[in-house]
Amino acid sequence: MTSLLIKNAEIVSMNQNEEIIYGDIYIENEQIMAIGKDLSLGHVNKVIDARGRTVIPGFVQTHIHLCQTLFRGKADDLELMNWLKQKIWPLEAAHDKESIYYSAMLGIGELIQSGTTTIVDMETVYHTEFAFQAIATSGIRALSGKVMMDKGDEVPKRLQENTKESIRKSVDLLEQWNDFDGGRIKYAFSPRFVVSCTEDLLKEVSQLSNFYQVYVHTHASENRGEIEIVERETGMRNIMYLDYLGLANERLILAHCIWLNDDEKKVIKEKGVKVSHCPGSNLKLASGIAEVPHLLKENISVSLGADGAPCNNNLDMFNEMRLAALIQKPMHGPTVMDAKTVFKMATIGGAKAIGMEEEIGSIEVGKKADLVILNLNNFHTYPSFDVDPISRIVYSASRADVETTIINGKIVMENRRMKTIDKNIVLHEANQSIRRLMKKVPTII
Ligand code: GUN
Ligand code: FE
Repeated sequence: MTSLLIKNAEIVSMNQNEEIIYGDIYIENEQIMAIGKDLSLGHVNKVIDARGRTVIPGFVQTHIHLCQTLFRGKADDLELMNWLKQKIWPLEAAHDKESIYYSAMLGIGELIQSGTTTIVDMETVYHTEFAFQAIATSGIRALSGKVMMDKGDEVPKRLQENTKESIRKSVDLLEQWNDFDGGRIKYAFSPRFVVSCTEDLLKEVSQLSNFYQVYVHTHASENRGEIEIVERETGMRNIMYLDYLGLANERLILAHCIWLNDDEKKVIKEKGVKVSHCPGSNLKLASGIAEVPHLLKENISVSLGADGAPCNNNLDMFNEMRLAALIQKPMHGPTVMDAKTVFKMATIGGAKAIGMEEEIGSIEVGKKADLVILNLNNFHTYPSFDVDPISRIVYSASRADVETTIINGKIVMENRRMKTIDKNIVLHEANQSIRRLMKKVPTII
């Protein structure tokens, strides 16, 4: 048994009463055992004095592509379908085992350093086991899966899958990785989007998701061109088609959901589908602005994600929180998307989206210790006197203020030093990897 005591902190608990607590957090193994003032305990393995520090629940990002981190800066200033066809698909097709591993490690390093402790991740067609290995080694909590794409002639040959193979490989990965490390890692079926998938594949995914009770993670209604293709090919609106396939339920995570009509919003609401809002990506790819205030008013689950590095170009939840708040205000007025609403989406809202609200998303006794210690003693976050801590975090703080990150009770970064990832090796190997991949795709960039 290992024990950890965090002392004298300002704790932004995000519990049911959204209490701010001044005191200590005691952790045994992966679990929070006690929260209170001056906890007096026997021997503990480690004590962190968090005086003058703010402790928050780790951020939950519900849409990430770790396999794309190596493509940061390689696909700027394009709209979705050109971005995919000209850059992302050829680059994904060039991936090898090592490049997948270091792409994941680079992304996870950035995520841990900026306070994200849980991700919903979509990999590419091949070598997903190397992403899972990076997830396992780094200590991050993740739902992940290989992308599935068995349709589309403008897709590089290497990414064109046979339906049965795609399903077989997904199930093999699921059986190997689902519930790994006591449930820290979970499998999620990841059909890319309707445009890339046959009806047969999507129907099978729907049945398998029910059988294994695992999530389905896909993109939907991100771009106007995309929804036109779906409507032309299926005769249905995108979300109606997903519903027709049996996919619309509480275990479906849809990234983006910008271009929805009223019927589609109704399906999302009634079936309990989860929306992952990615404001940075949506602005950079010129996709549009999701109607988040409306979706939230309808009690639809909306959480946040940075998407992939080449459409953002960072994986930083502080950026996403700020954008999620600010982009709505010119249209809907200054009171929508206040700091607390956005902070909830980034923490307990994300936990609810992945069905883990009993385990993570807030700082409460009995929950897993996924915690981030912030140092808000700086010019850009002062004064602190009589300022709401959540306002400081959402509107003033930045990723550089993350001092220590704890996931599943394990310290993965302490005083900004990475504990599970060798930064120098990862930066070096990331460059070596992208250099190797670029040699295979000389015509595109
Ligand atoms: N739609 C289909 N594939 C992708 C992807 O990789 N990223 C984004 N943002 N949208 C997609
Ligand atoms: Fe995406």
